[in-house]
Amino acid sequence: MPPPAAPDLTPAGRARAGDPADRPSWVDAVDNPYLHGIHAPTVHETTACELAVEGELPAELFGAYVRNGPNQVLPPKNLYHWFDGDGMIHAVQFRDGRASYRSRFVRTAGLADEARAGHAIWPGVMGPFDLAAPRHYLKDTANTDVIWHDGHLLALWYLCGEPYRLDPLTLEPRGSADFGGRRTTSISSHPKVDERTGELVWFSLGEFEPPYLVYGVVGRDGELAHEIGVELPGARASHDLTITRNFSILHDFPFFHDPAVLRSHGYRVARFHRELPSRFGVLPRRGGTDDVRWFEFEPGYVLHMVNAWEEGDWIVMDGCFQPDPSIRRNPDEGALASMLGYLRIRSHLHRWRMNLRTGEAREEALDDLNVEFPLPDTARYGEKTRWSYHQHIPAGVYTVEFHALVKYDHQDGSRVRFDYPPGWFASESPFAPRPGARDEDDGFVVTIATDAASLRSECWVFDAKQIERGPVARVKLPARVPTGFHAKWIPGERVF
Ligand SMILES: [Fe+2]
Repeated sequence: MPPPAAPDLTPAGRARAGDPADRPSWVDAVDNPYLHGIHAPTVHETTACELAVEGELPAELFGAYVRNGPNQVLPPKNLYHWFDGDGMIHAVQFRDGRASYRSRFVRTAGLADEARAGHAIWPGVMGPFDLAAPRHYLKDTANTDVIWHDGHLLALWYLCGEPYRLDPLTLEPRGSADFGGRRTTSISSHPKVDERTGELVWFSLGEFEPPYLVYGVVGRDGELAHEIGVELPGARASHDLTITRNFSILHDFPFFHDPAVLRSHGYRVARFHRELPSRFGVLPRRGGTDDVRWFEFEPGYVLHMVNAWEEGDWIVMDGCFQPDPSIRRNPDEGALASMLGYLRIRSHLHRWRMNLRTGEAREEALDDLNVEFPLPDTARYGEKTRWSYHQHIPAGVYTVEFHALVKYDHQDGSRVRFDYPPGWFASESPFAPRPGARDEDDGFVVTIATDAASLRSECWVFDAKQIERGPVARVKLPARVPTGFHAKWIPGERVF
């Protein structure tokens, strides 16, 4: 699939790239916290090398930190939500103790349409939607997740969209992944790559008719190798899946919207159905529709799992569990109350166990700290992992703000943390193994952080064995990086 024509994205900036005030001029007229300060979109795409570093960059750090996130280009058509912004990829590349940075928009078809029109075409997730709008009733922004597979970065959208490919080094557009010409569905964010086999394990959600979940596997060669429809009771809002060496685990949580309301009123109104269980469907990686075995647990919701693995007859899965995902609206917040309420995440590290022989299901909380955006060493997805790296969201903050990096020991649920300096907010923080690493946490943790006061951004590198000591190196970035969503570490031999 050819990339859409590149839109002119830089007509109305207030400053040059690198200036903390780099933002579109139209944001000044919009009263919305997600268009200002650390959340404000930037106007410019940036390329810079030989960046200044405070501390010492480890010479063996070889590869790229890549992060996706929203970066709204045109004035929104209606009430703006943080999830609405056009996708932009930020990459900090490391080699021989030096660092470079570049940022590029994901050249989505929707952004090209809007750039040609000169105005926003689609409303954001706050609605109301026009179900007759072109392509989809929402714009596929590809702003949520970024992974590496088959020689490309893939930018992915949480409501299921095109898997937009980017060159892993230059971030230039490379069309969409079509899985060898066999892809017929959109793809959700958070597919998993099994580094042992090179397979990409993905899912997609149906909205108005079955199958409400489609599950598939793409081979190392980028060709679709397996695809099935999975039976669900109705439309769901699943956000993640996990893999073990032999199995995949799918989600059915009792937190979803009513498609009839969407059709009749043009809104997605998510509701927590406390009377229904959480369910996980376990199937062999290339299993059929009839192979899915469902296990029931306490009601709730999970945005992001950490990892899953096999222990004898058991599947063990750790993730960030929200026992009460109901939306905490504060009427004093006016028109933004629903958005801010939805973003008040309350989740803790949790473990689910499923016995494939007996059908037994067990679960337990491993901790009570409010954490999200967890990442293990992603090269070990499907294997038993001991360590993971999370973001702490304190009680009382009005939205998703990351205040601390938390490293968990999954053997006993213990943790260490590094509290970001006051006024600094970081991003999802992947693990970067040291070449020839001797054990699981022999390496580094990398993040991008922004100071709300100066609006300057830095890339921080931690020694993964001692994250509580703070970053060993702070790379001064030449542009402000708006708050964003998901990040990955891409090993250097794949990027350079
Ligand atoms: Fe996510």
